[in-house]
Amino acid sequence: MKKILIIHGPNLGLLGQREPSIYGKVTLKEINNSLKSLAKKKKVSLTIKQSNHEGEIVDLIGKAKNKFNAILINPAAYTHTSVAIRDAISASGLLTVEVHLSNIYSREEFRQKSLISPVAKGSILGFGPKSYILGLEALLDLI
Ligand code: DQA
Repeated sequence: MKKILIIHGPNLGLLGQREPSIYGKVTLKEINNSLKSLAKKKKVSLTIKQSNHEGEIVDLIGKAKNKFNAILINPAAYTHTSVAIRDAISASGLLTVEVHLSNIYSREEFRQKSLISPVAKGSILGFGPKSYILGLEALLDLI
């Protein structure tokens, strides 16, 4: 069975209450449940983590190499700042798909750059919780 690591970055644990006009009212638990039901249908195994800590995310990716077939990640605010997460993805050599709830290119200027996109197979953004589902489907077609 193929194994996928899903990583939610900082503040995503607050989804549902956090700036609902931007991120919507769906909670992280609800997003995870919809990912789990897709995984069940497609017969793949998911490991889902949320972390507010850059180093912890780097460690998760660093340990993923021989355990997982691919990574689905919403790096959240670290998208725009973390060379360390970018390097960890690159070093892992794992197929990685980047997702965002919002369209980062239509928001503040500081969000309009992703350090992660160049090391991801592809990025899906702007579709709210559906970005995760589309990202997982795209990833499953490739592994
Ligand atoms: C986000 C976009 C980031 O700019 C922001 O810092 C987040 C969430 C998104 O999913 O739209 O925390 O990654």
